[in-house]
Amino acid sequence: MSLEIPKTVAIIMDGNGRWAKAKGLPRTAGHKQGATNVRDIALACNEIGIKKLILYAFSTENWKRPEEEVGFLCKLPGVFFNMFIKELMEKNIRVTFAGELNRFPQDTQDVINKAVSMTENNTGLELCLAINYGSRRELLLGIQKYASEVAQGLRENDLEEDEMSKYLMVEEEVDLMIRTSGEQRISNYLLWQIAYAELIFTPVAWPDFDKKELERCISEYQKRDRRFGGLTS
Ligand code: IPE
Ligand code: IPE
Ligand code: MG
Repeated sequence: MSLEIPKTVAIIMDGNGRWAKAKGLPRTAGHKQGATNVRDIALACNEIGIKKLILYAFSTENWKRPEEEVGFLCKLPGVFFNMFIKELMEKNIRVTFAGELNRFPQDTQDVINKAVSMTENNTGLELCLAINYGSRRELLLGIQKYASEVAQGLRENDLEEDEMSKYLMVEEEVDLMIRTSGEQRISNYLLWQIAYAELIFTPVAWPDFDKKELERCISEYQKRDRRFGGLTS
């Protein structure tokens, strides 16, 4: 049993739509509340001493949603950083992202890039937003990059498992993966990085997922016996 704080935590922030529907509100109201909760959970992770928090904000499959909802979701990171970047900066949080931003509106891209450069020297929590991210796409782009380096003679055809992360959008192994709102699936998230992650599925919808529920997930994680294929010590 390890009482360690997980270094890298990934969250599938699910259930915004159902949260809003249960309150008789439009789905977008759930996304708005969900964005505010990103601030609360990032601050909590920073206090707890987690090194990196990777939040699934928009998947490569979410383009299938109605135009109005997609439009709202595309603008949300910009709205989020305009509201909270000052506070994230004060708390020494470093902002990064994973995914292909180029399909997002230019002003949203500008706000995200500004948040990244403004906070790049911060040494607290790394808050990584997975935006227009899909793990299959990530792996495909990585394989293409590797193949072109081999074709250009830049490297031998000798890729080792521990070098694979150089070709990915997220380099770290995930220790703890949480999915809110009851669904028990991965939905194309961090497939390489979760090889030995502990998985926790909580029924709580993302807008209601608070510090107390986060701490409950961490204490459940601490009770798990992470054997990595070996034997319990
Ligand atoms: C998660 O909430 C946010 C995104 C996927 C962008 P959902 O919008 O998936 O909410 P549900 O699952 O429909 O309740
Ligand atoms: C996963 O949630 C993506 C994000 C949280 C951004 P979805 O709601 O899109 O996943 P499915 O469709 O239930 O698998
Ligand atoms: Mg969902």
